Formats: sequence, C-alpha cells, structure tokens
Amino acid sequence: MISPAGGRKSNTVPLTVDFLVQPGAAVNGAIDVPGDKSISHRSLMIGAVAEGDTRIRGFLPSEDTEATLSALHQMGVRIDRPSATEVVVRGVGLYGLRAPAAPLYLGNSGTSARLLAGLLSGQNFDVQLQGDESLMRQPMRRVTDPLRQMGADISCSPDGTPPVRIRGGASLAGISYDMPVASAQVKSALLLAGLYAAGATCVREPATTRDHTERMLAVFGVHVSREANRICVTGGTLTGRAIEVPGDISSAAFFLVAASIVPHSELLLRAVGVNPTRAAVIDILRSMGASIERRNEREISGEPVADLHVRHRPLRSVRIPRDLVSIAIDEFPAILVAAACARGETVLEGAAELRVKETDRIAAMAAGLQAVGIEARPAPDGIRVRGGELDGGEIDSRGDHRIAMAFAVAGLAARRPLRVRDCANVSTSFPGFADAFAAAGARIVLEQGRGG
Ligand code: S3P
Repeated sequence: MISPAGGRKSNTVPLTVDFLVQPGAAVNGAIDVPGDKSISHRSLMIGAVAEGDTRIRGFLPSEDTEATLSALHQMGVRIDRPSATEVVVRGVGLYGLRAPAAPLYLGNSGTSARLLAGLLSGQNFDVQLQGDESLMRQPMRRVTDPLRQMGADISCSPDGTPPVRIRGGASLAGISYDMPVASAQVKSALLLAGLYAAGATCVREPATTRDHTERMLAVFGVHVSREANRICVTGGTLTGRAIEVPGDISSAAFFLVAASIVPHSELLLRAVGVNPTRAAVIDILRSMGASIERRNEREISGEPVADLHVRHRPLRSVRIPRDLVSIAIDEFPAILVAAACARGETVLEGAAELRVKETDRIAAMAAGLQAVGIEARPAPDGIRVRGGELDGGEIDSRGDHRIAMAFAVAGLAARRPLRVRDCANVSTSFPGFADAFAAAGARIVLEQGRGG
C-alpha cells in the first residue's frame, strides 16, 4: 500500500488474507508469470536518471515496485502508465531529481531501500528512507558503511536499521570495496552511487550475485567492466531505452515446484528470465530429479530468457552446493518444499543471509514444515529437511510473501487441507498468485477478513 503523500501508511483497518489450499489437484497449461521484480525496480530507477524516455513493457505491478515508482514520482519524475504492466519513465537526467516533500515510504521493499540509498547518496538534497515493520528491522549498515567510505553523508539508526537519512551535497569518490556479504543490493547501491563519483567505483563480490544492474547500466550506455568477481563503473550519461522485462524466475519457482510434486502436472512457463546469476533453482531442482526443460532460449533487453517446461517426477534429496546459494537465495522457501516431498534428507548450508530477509526464513520454514509433520532441523546458516508425507492444518507465513507462497504450494501435495495465514504481503511480489494457480487447476482460494 502506498500512501498518497508518501510519508506513511494510511490508518485504515488492515485486511487479513489467508490462503485455503485443497490438496490433490494437478496443475496444467501454459502460464505467463509476472514480470521480474528486480529488473522492474532497476528499469524505473535507471530510467529516471537517464536522458529521455524509457518505455518498460512486462513491468511487475506489485506493492514493492509501486513503492519505487512512487518514490521517484515524489522526487519529480513524470511517469506515465498506459497499462498496469507498461510504464513510461520520463527521465530527468543524473542531476534532475528534486527533494521530496516527505520521507520516502518504501513499504516491505528492501530492494527499493538499498538501491535508492546508493542512487540518492550523490544528490544535492536531503532525503529519508523508511518502510513497514519488516523493512524497519532490516540491516542497512551493509550499504551505509561503504557509501560513507565513498564520501556520502548517510546514516541509519544506532542498531543499523532504517530510517536511512541522507544529507545532500556530498562529493562522492570511487572506492574499491570487498563486500563482506554476497549481496546484489549492496553491489547495486555502490554501482548506482558510482555514477555520481569521481573516478572508478569497484566492488568485489565473495560469491556470484544477480547482475541485473550491470546488464541494465550497459543497455543504457554506461561502461561496466567485470574481471572475475570484480565489477567497476565510472560515471557517464545514461540514455533512455525501451525495456522488456522477462518473467520472474522467483515467481516461476513456485510453479516449478508445484508441477514437480503434484502427480499428473505439466506446465509451460513462458518467457522466464534464466540469467545464470539468478536461475540456480532450475539446476537444484534438476539435481533432485525434476523434469525441467528450457525451450526457445533467447535474449531480451540484455537478459537471457527461455520457456520452461516442467512435469511431475518423483524427487530425491540433495546436498545443495554452497556456490549455488547466492544464485538461488530467494527460491529456498520453494526449494525446501520440494525437499519436504523428496526421498531422503536435503542439506542446505552457507545460507545465513536467509535469516535477514523479509522474515527469518530459516526459522519460518523450519516451524512451518514441522507444523505439517516434516522433520526439519534449522542451523545458524541453513537447514536439514527430511522428505515425508505432508499433513494439512494451519501455517503462519509471518507476513513473508515467499513463505506464504511456498506453503500454499506445499498444501497441494498434503494429505489434508491447509490454511496459510497472513498472506497479504504476497502482493509485494506476486499479486494474483492464487488466481494464477487456480487457473492452472490448483484449488487455492484467498480468504479475506478484518484484521485487528
Ligand atoms: C535483490 C537481491 C537479493 C534478493 C532480493 C532482491 C535485488 O537480496 O534477496 O529479493 O533485486 O537486488 P540481497 O542482494 O541483499 O541478497
């Protein structure tokens, strides 16, 4: 939800949303998954500071991306909306953003907060970034520390969380930064700040993270170099472009798992982004025995895309290779549901980052899987899940969109109906999730009530 003034959420009584899932029905047909969230955010931000217009097709209309859109609008960027999935950003150039009248409210969106922290560090006005309860708990020093090293006047609260306060007028200088955590949000924040910095800004990543920012900056005419795990950018002018956003592999993951675990399922997911820095979910599920085929591989707006064909096949457990963790970071809720339906024990290690997502996803998955009778043993940096028979009952998603969607999929393979509570935040990344599944034959209904 975006308040019109941009400062805070409105005071209406919140609606609670639950998913009610009836097991047994197969999923079939051809599906266009919604646009990629990461690429939608980037096309708005990069389009806003480019010269000229950027027409975005296949845009994801979700609460998170609308938060970025609203923030840019509040900083004076004109944005036209021919349809929900088509956006035209009237670029204002690198120095054309204006001070917003109020703090920028970014809802649940960590990507908006961290990438904007980088983009706004080089402006000549003050700005404050804040969000909902979950975002206000998220770690921000990972971006504010290196941005300060670049000369930004930026701070967060003493415990390292938002609000993030930026004072305008700082002169930025490029740095060479070794990222302590593998984070595309941190890398992107620094590369965007680098557009405003004197000299080169270089980031070394400890493991591969999604490279959408690098690819999109290149599409807009900025030279980005990459040597092994070191990425560098120097300032330059950006030129508005037509961008086509591929389907989101993170949303596709729920269909890939559903079709894999429910007998008689077969799906074709059209035009899904399969960027190698994003698509390890396909490799992990295949190593578990899933039948997933890439068809019609092509490239759109600098991003690899394919149609994914998936059909039901019994799964076996796997030890997830550590070097795939950062390339499948958002897909673990779905992958762990596949693990719950697989023969044997699946082991995930080196994934401590899951504890600082929209919720602590290791704790949320362990508790949810245990509640449906699956042996799940959490560890500080991962989890072990032994496949078994899933029971129904009730699960708390803890307000995390991906936990909610993962358990809705689990319910399809359970032996009794399952209620997943607190699913309103599914619209941060996949509005229409229940309808899309229902259209494929699944029995998932959304039940709304009055919250407290
Ligand atoms: C994102 C990067 C990831 C991911 C998030 C979106 C992005 O976060 O979890 O959902 O768009 O850059 P980190 O880079 O912090 O791991």
